[in-house]
Amino acid sequence: MASESALLYERVAQEITGLIEGGTFRVGDRVPSIRQLSKRMNASINTVMQAYAVLEDRQLIEARPQSGYYVRARAPEIDGPDLTARTALAPATATISDLCQQVIRNMMRRDLLPLGSAVPHPQHLPIDRLNRIMASESRRFREQSVQYMMPPGYDRLQVQVARRALLAGISARPDEVLVTSGCVEAVVLALRATCRSGDTVAVESPFYFNFLQVIAELGLKALEIPATPREGISIEALGYAIEQSRISACLVIPNFGNPLGSLMPPERKRELVELLARHEIPLIEDDIYGELHFGHERPLAAKSFDRKGLVIYCSSFSKTLAPGYRVGWTIAGRFQPEMERMKMMINLATASPCQLAIAEFLATGGYDHHLRSIQRIHSRNLSQMADAVVRHFPAGTRMTRPTGGFMLWVEMPAGVDAIRLFQRAVEQGISIAPGPLFSLSGKYHNFIRLSSALWDETVEAGIRKLGELAHDLLRG
Ligand SMILES: Cc1ncc(COP(=O)(O)O)c(C=O)c1O
Repeated sequence: MASESALLYERVAQEITGLIEGGTFRVGDRVPSIRQLSKRMNASINTVMQAYAVLEDRQLIEARPQSGYYVRARAPEIDGPDLTARTALAPATATISDLCQQVIRNMMRRDLLPLGSAVPHPQHLPIDRLNRIMASESRRFREQSVQYMMPPGYDRLQVQVARRALLAGISARPDEVLVTSGCVEAVVLALRATCRSGDTVAVESPFYFNFLQVIAELGLKALEIPATPREGISIEALGYAIEQSRISACLVIPNFGNPLGSLMPPERKRELVELLARHEIPLIEDDIYGELHFGHERPLAAKSFDRKGLVIYCSSFSKTLAPGYRVGWTIAGRFQPEMERMKMMINLATASPCQLAIAEFLATGGYDHHLRSIQRIHSRNLSQMADAVVRHFPAGTRMTRPTGGFMLWVEMPAGVDAIRLFQRAVEQGISIAPGPLFSLSGKYHNFIRLSSALWDETVEAGIRKLGELAHDLLRG
């Protein structure tokens, strides 16, 4: 019986593979729903689900939230560095600040096509609803709306955040939630609470450039640990680094990291937390993209495996609701009192009207519905962008295939210099994030990070133009 059903799901998988290869279903097309196929092929729902899981593993189709299964772009994937080699790891202090400034300034320019910035497109944010709620809540809590909401923050917001944290596997009381002015503030407070000047922080590589800057600004050193697009930071390399040097904290983005988009499997998260716990090294976890998953379930946070209060969980609503509201939070375990004290010293409190609005939106504004809608959009956009990169960039270009977030990390042939591409792209009205930004040790010279927060004809034309520029650079 078992082998019969095994044969059956393989037969279903082969039928769909044949239809994709024969061109009946093309990249971006929706394949029949599980129910339709189960009826048509006279197979059980379970068999079809198994067949689709196999096709997902073979990278032929992908699930889109609340929408079904779609044919995936055949994009050559980056497999990441060889993690078996024990390469020498050296902390770096060099800065990338000039390039960083230039790139950030360009991200803000309205006359450039924003393919370089990791911010959601306003088209996909509930702007009017949020602003209306802010006005009505400010009337309802008239005095509170103009007073300081001292740390740990607005109690209704703490309750809402603690409830949502459960979905990531974190069990926290509302008073364990410290509201911050965005995720960056949470991470800065965490670094200050765990490190002293001159200390070393282990980070995954490539890594979000702003945090590399923050580490340098705080007088700390970043130790870049290789990461793979599939599994994130290498636990083996980190273990080796811990043997070699004194590491004061480890800062990672386990769910859809920036720029790799990697999703650490739960087992790897557990290993990471346990490895660090054995050495009493705090883990600073940035989970700002965790709610932007394309699968059925929100991925767990590494914090869900924390038994010692050593994981400092940081996040915000910048990627899902309103980056400009500057509302973030941390669940900081044993570091909370110190971080609360510092928050009070540095900026007293997070803006009250923004806390009021977000708390009410979470309670009544249909946040989950909104999330489902943007998850669907991001999943579709990423796929379309990957497909366009395959069509327009030079042969040999490879990229990541994230299952959440809205960023594509693209590796071009070695002859294409990402900084020159960035400069030429600006001249053509396009902003991108060049790879060298994502390391302090001069890596990723032929990589770029593209944002697929928006997908339309203009963006498609932008990708075509970038491809032409990359071809030009390759020809010299
Ligand atoms: C990984 C990561 N963390 C934090 C931030 C910024 O967070 P916030 O706006 O909440 O301070 C970004 C924005 O790009 C990001 O990519």
